[in-house]
Amino acid sequence: MPDTMQQYKDYVITSFLKSVAPVVVDRAQGAVITDPGGREYLDCFAGISVVNSGHNHPRVIAAAKAQMDKLVHCSSYLYHCQPVADLAEKLAHLAPRGLTKTFFGNGGAEAIEGALKLARLYTGKPELLALQMSFHGRSWGALSVTGNWGRKKRGGPYAPGVAFAPPPYTFRSPWRDNPDECVRQCVRALEDVIRFDTAGDIAAFIAEPVMGEGGIIVPPPTYFREIKKVLDQHGILFIADEVQSGFARTGKMFAIEHYGVVPDILVTAKGIADGFPLSAFTTRPEIADAFKPGDHLSTFGGNPVSCAAALANIAVIEEENLCERSRELGAHALARLQAMANNAPLVGEVRGLGLMIGIELVKDAELTPAAAEAEAIKEFCLRNGLLVGVGGVYGNVVRVQPPLVISREQLDHALDVMEQALGEAAGHKKVTGGQKKVRAAS
Ligand SMILES: Cc1ncc(COP(=O)(O)O)c(C=O)c1O
Repeated sequence: MPDTMQQYKDYVITSFLKSVAPVVVDRAQGAVITDPGGREYLDCFAGISVVNSGHNHPRVIAAAKAQMDKLVHCSSYLYHCQPVADLAEKLAHLAPRGLTKTFFGNGGAEAIEGALKLARLYTGKPELLALQMSFHGRSWGALSVTGNWGRKKRGGPYAPGVAFAPPPYTFRSPWRDNPDECVRQCVRALEDVIRFDTAGDIAAFIAEPVMGEGGIIVPPPTYFREIKKVLDQHGILFIADEVQSGFARTGKMFAIEHYGVVPDILVTAKGIADGFPLSAFTTRPEIADAFKPGDHLSTFGGNPVSCAAALANIAVIEEENLCERSRELGAHALARLQAMANNAPLVGEVRGLGLMIGIELVKDAELTPAAAEAEAIKEFCLRNGLLVGVGGVYGNVVRVQPPLVISREQLDHALDVMEQALGEAAGHKKVTGGQKKVRAAS
């Protein structure tokens, strides 16, 4: 039996991580991951919010296998390939109104790069607007629009012509109890950024409808509508980065649907194919046509196996009502977490949309981030057979993003473990008290 962890140490580059969790994943089904010795873990992170239909959904696997028996690769942009055509057509029906043409890549960052390039070609303008605390991927262009030093450090300087506006992070804004005022101030700040930090030649504003890596920051309900008005006044395109929030994760097929706004370009990846590598950006035909011969391509983009898996995955999302399920289970989890928060001094805020949930931990009334405590909770959960994530720009947000097929019993078990973990973490901590805030978007 090979020593997988030792092989990782010897041969896999992991020095960009503090550590890799001491779990060897041998197989997985639904919301359960199993190690080679048969120990099971309940997965509440879904491979970073990817396997929305559950690990190894039989329909997705069957579709991928059937496609593999026929064709694995032909380069989907050199020749016509049926699963690519079918998936693009399906996305044209699913995406917000008017977005009917899709380019396929392999991962989120690649799709972000392509979307930024297309927006600049279409508008003929070079500049970009983004949000502080955002995350859009690890490639240079994607990092250039990422608003987080923690991800950008040691890689600069980045692309010129990118300006950042403050995020709608109500909890850490001066308007914690007044989301409408938070939106007003964000809109004003964006107008100021346009006026004072740019040359006025802005192609696009890019934002995540729910900010995942930043700490599951859920913008107030009016945020995107108000922001879009400003963008329209200036002829700025809106790129919605749904890499993490898409495909039923938040209780709608795409999170931007909660906000009643139609983006100009919709970027997707992660949950699109239930674990098979695939990404996409989808836009209006006139924007798509800004690409001229030679402007773009991807050798593996639109891999037939991934596209076949994506088609089956979308069928599962629709037929198993995963949007509804995400909404219902998300509301249940939020309610339970809120009840826990009332007895857990560490919890500053519980927030989320559907099954995209963050528990922000703070040390005191000044909201000093409790990052070590978040790590301790993750480790407690792991020891007790539960996988959760930790994120947030301050590293103090426990992330609960399970496969959407998780059963109510499994979710309740996960919440029980989290409750114990919060109790344990509080036991180790000198409670300094203070007024805390519990808020859940719905
Ligand atoms: C919102 C968002 N955009 C882009 C990316 C980058 O995706 P990938 O890691 O597939 O390149 C991520 C990854 O976490 C993400 O959360």
